[in-house]
Amino acid sequence: MLNQKIVLLDGRGAGDEDLNSVLEILIHELKVSAVALQYFPLREIKMGSCIGCFGCWLKKPGICLEADPGRELARAVVQSDTTILFSPVTFGGYGSEIKKIQDRWLPLILPDFGLYHGEVHHRPRYSQYPRLLGIGIQRQPNDVEANLFKMLVGRNALNFHAPNYAAEVILSSDSPGNIEQKIQEVLVRNDNFPLSKAVNSVMPTSETAIVNAATGKNPGKVLLVIGSPKVKSPSTSGVLGNYVLEQLKQRGWETESLTLRASLLNREGQNEFLAAIEKANLILLAFPLYIDSLPFLMMKSLEVMGKHLSAHSQESPKRLVAIVNNGFPEAHHNAIALAICQQFALDTGMIWLGGLAMGAGEALFGGFPIEETERGGRPPVKHILQALELTSQALAEGKIVPPKASKLMARTPIPLMPFSLWRWLFIKLANQRWRSLAAVNQVGESELLAQPYAEVELCG
Ligand SMILES: Cc1cc2nc3c(=O)[nH]c(=O)nc-3n(C[C@H](O)[C@H](O)[C@H](O)COP(=O)(O)O)c2cc1C
Repeated sequence: MLNQKIVLLDGRGAGDEDLNSVLEILIHELKVSAVALQYFPLREIKMGSCIGCFGCWLKKPGICLEADPGRELARAVVQSDTTILFSPVTFGGYGSEIKKIQDRWLPLILPDFGLYHGEVHHRPRYSQYPRLLGIGIQRQPNDVEANLFKMLVGRNALNFHAPNYAAEVILSSDSPGNIEQKIQEVLVRNDNFPLSKAVNSVMPTSETAIVNAATGKNPGKVLLVIGSPKVKSPSTSGVLGNYVLEQLKQRGWETESLTLRASLLNREGQNEFLAAIEKANLILLAFPLYIDSLPFLMMKSLEVMGKHLSAHSQESPKRLVAIVNNGFPEAHHNAIALAICQQFALDTGMIWLGGLAMGAGEALFGGFPIEETERGGRPPVKHILQALELTSQALAEGKIVPPKASKLMARTPIPLMPFSLWRWLFIKLANQRWRSLAAVNQVGESELLAQPYAEVELCG
């Protein structure tokens, strides 16, 4: 630890004052180790959240287009030796304060894809990245969520080419002596990277969904919550979610849809959102994977819903289903995000009906309407539509997401093509596509690879 540059991202939200004592012990330990500590209390820093425009890759490579403290935070992270994420464990993920800044780490890596540890990830923009350290706090012990949290930190470390990482979950009610010991250990420990097998093991399956055919058999009210923050272009989440909504409508269901926006951060917007939740008996979340987890506003919406549902008893439990799509061709990257949705349902007394995970969202749909997807050389999406139809039928009948639908959704899109070949083709074509998209903005090869936050070496 000695003489290291440490960035500490304090992700305590409003009402998390009971986590203060753990934070104080952590800061004390860091100071004892004589480190150069940069401390960021995220809740007090005013900044925007990522809107998924990819401008940080294609217009101003390496820098978020939003000129606010989010830029300096990204710089501090990549220039640190260790970045520490301190957060309440929230349904197995980070709280929304950490998610907000973490989504803005996208400029720290390149748009280009490569193969790392047998899976697709983005190529590094910089020659060095910090060690990642995750410290999650729980008020009640929950091993499943603790395990998800630790795995999420490990997946982030893989995605951001961290040389190593460690993660610990601490009970806020533990004795100061135990907390100190756990912190001392995690500061110097290296954990094993969770590779595809480990992350696949947390993918919710039909066995973990609750089969409850007795409820919701009749047409009911479904609310689609679109969690893609894209404002400049339509989202794949919207296309997938609306397809299911339309199918349910045709089966006599009352439908409503909303897209999460910054209004969710104020009281009025939260009340409107909760009123829509109250009216529905089936809630369909459709969102993209952002940094191995749910995007900031999606995480915020779970926090808002969770607080409301635990304070107001429900006549009959609401049912929850989730569709998540990600950029890399492997659908298993979405496992933690779906598992977080499942934990959210369990923690709030909802009935979890299962989820669908789809890889290569930009390549297959890119937000285009379904009729246009197969034009312009995109891979076929018939299997996706079939998966959505099977799911809609099951939901309409009060059943869980069928395992066949989950399989179809995650399948190699080109029939008979082995996954390894599809992945190779994906990497090759996607890397060409990023270049042609950047060229539209007069951004050439060397600018695309820019390292605006590389530390200048002082000669001397
Ligand atoms: C900030 C940000 C973070 C992302 N993180 C991941 C990631 O960790 N893994 C991944 O496979 N794709 C990642 N993606 C890609 C999106 O999941 C992908 O573009 C998705 O298709 C977007 O869906 P949408 O159109 O519904 O927003 C990320 C994109 C953004 C903008």
